[in-house]
Amino acid sequence: MTLWWDGMGLTYFKRFRMEYDLRHGVPASVPVPPGYDLVPFSVDLIRDHATAKFHSFRCELDANVFPCLGRRDGCLRLMREITSRAGFVPQATWLCRYRDSDSGTMQPIGTIQGLQFEGWGAVQNLGIDPGHRSLGLGSVLLERAATGFRAAGLQRMHLEVTTDNTAAIRLYERLGFKRAKVVFKAAEVAGV
Ligand SMILES: CC(C)(COP(=O)(O)OP(=O)(O)OC[C@H]1O[C@@H](n2cnc3c(N)ncnc32)[C@H](O)[C@@H]1OP(=O)(O)O)[C@@H](O)C(=O)NCCC(=O)NCCS
Repeated sequence: MTLWWDGMGLTYFKRFRMEYDLRHGVPASVPVPPGYDLVPFSVDLIRDHATAKFHSFRCELDANVFPCLGRRDGCLRLMREITSRAGFVPQATWLCRYRDSDSGTMQPIGTIQGLQFEGWGAVQNLGIDPGHRSLGLGSVLLERAATGFRAAGLQRMHLEVTTDNTAAIRLYERLGFKRAKVVFKAAEVAGV
C-alpha cells in the first residue's frame, strides 16, 4: 500500500530512501542532446529553477506529497528556502534549458538541487518538463549533481522517491542507486 489516511486529515505516503556510493564514480549519462544546455547554479537563476520545477511536478504525484510543488509561488518559495540553507551545495545544483525555436530564447525545462547533511549529498526535486522526458536529461542532471557532490568532498548521496513513482525508481536503479529503507511522509491532501 502506497498511502493511507489516518482519519484525522493526514495522508501518509510511502517512500524509498535510495542511496549511491560516490567513491566508485558517478552515474553514467548520455551527451546533452542538440538544442539543450546545462547551466551551473547562480542566484539569478532561482526563478528559472522554480519555473522548471513547477512544470515538471505540477501534474505529478509528488505535488500531493509536497503541495508547494503544484504551485508556481510554492516552487519559488521552495527554491529560495533550499538555496539559503547552510547545507546548500551549489555545485550539485543545475538547470537544464531548451532553445525555443519561435522566440530563440533558452527556456528552463529541468532542474536538480543538492543539499549536504551529515556527510551525505541529498538530491532534491529532480524534475524534467513532460515535453522533454526520455531524452536522457534526467540522467544528465543526476550525473552533474553527483559530480558536484564529489567536488564538495562527499562520498555518498541519497534521495527519496514515492514508491508509486515507478519511472523514477527504474531510472535511479538503472543508474546504480540502491533501496536503503522505507520512510513515510505525512501530508494534508485535499479530497482524500
Ligand atoms: C524522473 C524524471 C526526472 C526522469 O527524467 P527523464 O529526462 O525522462 O530521464 P531519462 O531520459 O534520463 O531516463 C528516462 C527514460 O528515458 C530513457 N532514455 C535515457 N536516455 C535516452 C536517450 N538518449 N534517448 C531515448 N531514451 C532515453 C531511459 O532508458 C529511461 O527509460 P525507462 O523509462 O525505461 O526508465 C522525469 O520523469 C520527471 O521529471 N518526473 C516527474 C518528477 C519526478 O517525479 N521526479 C522524481 C522525484 S524523486
